[in-house]
Amino acid sequence: MNDKKLASMAVEAKKKSFANFSNFHVGAALLTENDELYLGANIENSSYSLTICAERTAVFQAILDGHRKFKAIAIASDFEDYCPPCGACRQVLMDLCGKDLDVIMVNKKEEIITHKLSELLPLSFNEEYLK
Ligand code: THU
Repeated sequence: MNDKKLASMAVEAKKKSFANFSNFHVGAALLTENDELYLGANIENSSYSLTICAERTAVFQAILDGHRKFKAIAIASDFEDYCPPCGACRQVLMDLCGKDLDVIMVNKKEEIITHKLSELLPLSFNEEYLK
């Protein structure tokens, strides 16, 4: 699957968003090494800090299904500009998907920009420190 197609799947996943408080709907599409697709969307909570981002719903589901290697994640929102992953999601993606993950950000016109996760989270704390 190419980056554009993965981006369109993130836009599709956004429809599943439960964002009753911020009204900021986010969708994510995660591609495994075997080209399996996992969709995610943000799920908000009245106790705001319990909210979970789109990226993490997608990656946690993939991990639960036994996947350990990933190629790319696309992230889409209703915002005009590209939607970058939050800091917490960058850390989770670093741990579970690794520094070479392609992070594809989608803007409202469905244009994309792609960065390696290592560019978005340089000097990261990671599992190497715990060995
Ligand atoms: N959000 C995501 O789903 N992913 C991000 O990387 C940025 C933020 C969600 C969390 C919350 O539901 C809403 O966007 C506003 O912060």
